[in-house]
Amino acid sequence: MAKQVNVGVIGCGIVGRGTIETLLKNKETILQKSGISVNLVGIADIRIDNNDELLNGVAIKTTDAMELINNPEIDIIVELIGGYTHAKTFILAAIEQGKHVVTANKALLATHGKEIFNKAIEKGVQVAFEASVGGGIPIIKVLKEDLAANNIEEIDGIINGTANYILTRMIQEGKDYKDVLADAQKLGYAEADPTFDVQGIDSAHKLTLLSSIAFGTWVEFDKVYTEGITNISTVDIDFAKELDCTIKLLAIAKKRNGSIEVRVHPTMIPNRFQLAAVNDVFNAVQVKGDVVGTTLHYGRGAGGTPTSSAVVADIVNIARDIVSGCKERVPALGFAQAIESHYPIVNIDDTVSSFYMRFNVEDNPGVLSTIAGIMSLNNVSISSAIQRGKEGQDGLPLVFLTHNATGKQIRNAVDEIDKLPFIKDKTVVIRVEGLR
Ligand code: HSE
Repeated sequence: MAKQVNVGVIGCGIVGRGTIETLLKNKETILQKSGISVNLVGIADIRIDNNDELLNGVAIKTTDAMELINNPEIDIIVELIGGYTHAKTFILAAIEQGKHVVTANKALLATHGKEIFNKAIEKGVQVAFEASVGGGIPIIKVLKEDLAANNIEEIDGIINGTANYILTRMIQEGKDYKDVLADAQKLGYAEADPTFDVQGIDSAHKLTLLSSIAFGTWVEFDKVYTEGITNISTVDIDFAKELDCTIKLLAIAKKRNGSIEVRVHPTMIPNRFQLAAVNDVFNAVQVKGDVVGTTLHYGRGAGGTPTSSAVVADIVNIARDIVSGCKERVPALGFAQAIESHYPIVNIDDTVSSFYMRFNVEDNPGVLSTIAGIMSLNNVSISSAIQRGKEGQDGLPLVFLTHNATGKQIRNAVDEIDKLPFIKDKTVVIRVEGLR
């Protein structure tokens, strides 16, 4: 007879329902693949509808998550309520009870992961979180296991579907940020409060986890530089097109000379990059390893069904370990060492890239040379310049692309330039990656 592993799911929202559906629909497939009967024995949610057909065959339906956590029959607790307070209480209580945990909660893990993972190590259980980054894209396991032969050098990801959807429509339709956001909210692609998605916070949560795994260090979430897409305008999108580039909200992690860069910000990238073609709500993570080179992982970063693919994969992996009597085959962050911050994080001021700068100027003689002079005094080298508009026009866009410079050099130059009398508006600065 097949071995049995019992699962309790807390949270019956979009991902919770997707997970329940997948566990029930593909129970036979999971049994064929793993030789294990993975049983969904209970679900908990603050609102339980007893007439809900999806939950028909589930033995325990409760509004009290602790009922599942305290049930000795349940081996794995799946936390899908999100948020910080209750989710953390339930996860820690489940670990305390010696149960394995599966979660999609990137916000909680990015901010309290060290405590949660260390508690799990102490209790000899697993906390799996494949669904926390990139929805259905299996990127956590790839980093932890399939790229184990590599020193990971760099990660570049589009890991927020909402922001990517908004930018894609701005680029394709020439519409303003505000109009596209309002439309995305109407269509259900953006939440009523889109702060986490559009301000880059959700991407920063996910980058915290990816970079911690990639580099074998605990990256503190508040050290991740985070800038969202709210100030991206159609003017800059049009200039990007002219430069054969596109603007994406990129999550970038690099390890160089024993230090780590972790930053989320709008980034101008050449259209020849594969990431430039990742559109709409899709996510993609590009990983560079010293042995394998560059790999690209693409798919749906959100949604109940795709995300449930990752949740259920974690359940199956843990079920396999339970059945084979294996305690911790792969450590939580993929490295067999204490979960500590082993490397310093580079301040954004000290990170190096090219920059796109758009100045709003009065079109007078000497304007370009004055700005160029300040750039030169700050040791910033200009690679190209574009000026548009009519002679004498008020508020003319003047665009510079720079060679490599530090964030600080650019900030100092902009501080000085923005004080000049012929500057009509704050200078727009967007980091550029990959221009030759
Ligand atoms: N809000 C996220 C996004 C999905 O827009 O990508 C869940 O991680």
